Amino acid sequence: MKVLVLGSGGREHALVWKLAQSRQLSRLWVAPGNAGTALERLAASGNPVENIAIGADQIDALLDFAKASRPDLTVVGPDNPLALGVVDRFQAAGFRIWGPNQRAAQFEASKAFSQDFMERHGIPTARSGTFTDPAEAKRYCASLDGRCAVKADGLALGKGVLLATSVAEAERAVDEILVDKAFGQAGARLVIQELLEGMEISLHALCDGRTAKLFPTSQDHKRSHDGDTGLNTGGMGTYSPAPFLTDAELERVGEQILGPWLAGCAADGIDFRGLLYPGVMLTRNGPKVIEFNARFGDPEAQVYLPRLENDLVDLLIASVEGTLDRQTLRWSREACVCVVAASAGYPGPVHKGQEIVGLSAADALPGVKVFHAGTTVKDGRIVTNGGRVLGVTALGPDMASARTRAYEALSKVHFDGMHFRRDIGAKALAASH
Ligand code: AMP
Ligand code: GLY
Repeated sequence: MKVLVLGSGGREHALVWKLAQSRQLSRLWVAPGNAGTALERLAASGNPVENIAIGADQIDALLDFAKASRPDLTVVGPDNPLALGVVDRFQAAGFRIWGPNQRAAQFEASKAFSQDFMERHGIPTARSGTFTDPAEAKRYCASLDGRCAVKADGLALGKGVLLATSVAEAERAVDEILVDKAFGQAGARLVIQELLEGMEISLHALCDGRTAKLFPTSQDHKRSHDGDTGLNTGGMGTYSPAPFLTDAELERVGEQILGPWLAGCAADGIDFRGLLYPGVMLTRNGPKVIEFNARFGDPEAQVYLPRLENDLVDLLIASVEGTLDRQTLRWSREACVCVVAASAGYPGPVHKGQEIVGLSAADALPGVKVFHAGTTVKDGRIVTNGGRVLGVTALGPDMASARTRAYEALSKVHFDGMHFRRDIGAKALAASH
């Protein structure tokens, strides 16, 4: 089977690494991939994974490639091509592709769409309002005493959410998004949610339009610095499982969210085949969804895929073909931790082109896999090429050993300006003591 993966981040390296283990694969392309994806080999043949120089958003060029190379399955990593309708375009041309269609991808592409859906179908979420008028938005913020999350409606690289704890801060956030257009057209509309308190976890469920198969828990670390301080990022590290819910509690939370979500999709005629990733706050009043994503989390994929024991190709095909009810997801009992190594300045602008050393030494440690994100090859050397550079990932018999292994591996790696959080997984350890 020939497979094409779209994307170039750590999530896509993890997808490629996992797909390459399938004995069913004869060829695996990544558009555009990174330095790490090009180092992977197919388990069945030993043949290398092939990076192709087409961006994940260049849908016309991707379709030309598909027509010439005839992939049997295309796997979409990031949100942007989904929002642009890559799935609809590939399907119209007769290609099998994994990911939600453009309508279903609105769960991520429009926070106003998601909020309206959740309210109509009884999915537990934050109290909220949707606004285009700054004065009305500010009145709503004031009614919440300024304690709110002010969110650009559209896609903004994970940066379109501003948290406020005073009326003045909330008003500044409204102006930044609606008036100063800090996130361009993505901020033409605002969703304002009450500020929720509690432990935040990531849920993932693989869906086929009728069935949703819930993954174990994981927890992301969104802020740039230790102790959840600093700016919001795409995610500085993650681990799985997160020990804040028992298996029975997770099942119940899953039912509270996915039950009405599936019923709502059926009622509204939304055919979601792909990965639904609800961000959830575990509050004193029960779980509340703060947002939906329509793809694997990054870096959540980097800790889920090493724990997944199934052949990923089988699961993705079942998701596309509506036969997930016949699949059982199998997970390793091991814990997995991923620590992101970022460039100086991230999540702001960064310098690229710094040489990365120590990758082989890190990868050689037991249980360790270094997933690449913003990397590329220049003059035969692997260099930085973005904000999040590496996801240093380790499996271990328990959280403490997985964490020790990940940080030991990280200590072997270096590039100028490298920064990372030292407390990934710390909350899990504290909770289990
Ligand atoms: P989002 O992109 O909507 O997940 O928001 C980014 C981050 O902002 C989340 O991961 C949370 O940490 C935080 N956040 C978003 N909405 C809320 C909320 N209603 N209450 C508290 N924190 C929130
Ligand atoms: N880990 C955050 C995200 O993928 O949106």
